Amino acid sequence: MTSVGILEGSLRKASLSRAVARSAPGLAPDGLAAQMLPSPGTLPLFNQDVLDEGLPESVGTLEAAIRASDAVLIVTPEYNWSFPGVLKNAIDWLSRISPNPLEGKPVAIWSVSPGALGGARLHEGLRQVLHSQDARIMAKPEVQVALAKSKVDVAESRIVHADTEAFLRAHLARFMEFANACRSD
Ligand code: FNR
Repeated sequence: MTSVGILEGSLRKASLSRAVARSAPGLAPDGLAAQMLPSPGTLPLFNQDVLDEGLPESVGTLEAAIRASDAVLIVTPEYNWSFPGVLKNAIDWLSRISPNPLEGKPVAIWSVSPGALGGARLHEGLRQVLHSQDARIMAKPEVQVALAKSKVDVAESRIVHADTEAFLRAHLARFMEFANACRSD
């Protein structure tokens, strides 16, 4: 069994991207177990002084959950043509842990937006930061869930657009293969 930890990029209750993230376990193929990682909203803002006193418990909890996952799927909105600060904050914390739990970790990105571009502009910058962690990024196919209000039932955390559901299912199947290939390297 391959395990994927899902990291959400939005903290709000009625989040479109969180609903997509929560739909992912139900879209996973046989052999792939997907579950939500602790929210990056549980972490304090990064501060070197805090780190000098010891790693916050919440960071250690996220670290352990990532270590226990064979791969990480980031599902996030786009903020100002980039990815949200909560994700950068989480990566900054994780990057201070040795060994870095993201190092060598297979990672894929799904962006979600009510807009027509689907968060396309965040991918390159997020990949760049993940590269700095030596994560193993599955860059293609890119996943952008555009016009998400018509594709996601937020209350049910369910994809209600057949083509989008099929695409996400296929992407997860491919991501499982990618993660397994990384594991056998
Ligand atoms: C946005 N939004 C947005 N959308 C987009 O497609 N590209 C962008 O650059 C931005 N920028 C942006 C900045 C900030 C600070 C906010 C709060 C919002 C709109 C955004 O996609 C929309 O609010 C989503 O619903 C947020 O995602 P969740 O919380 O629904 O997952």
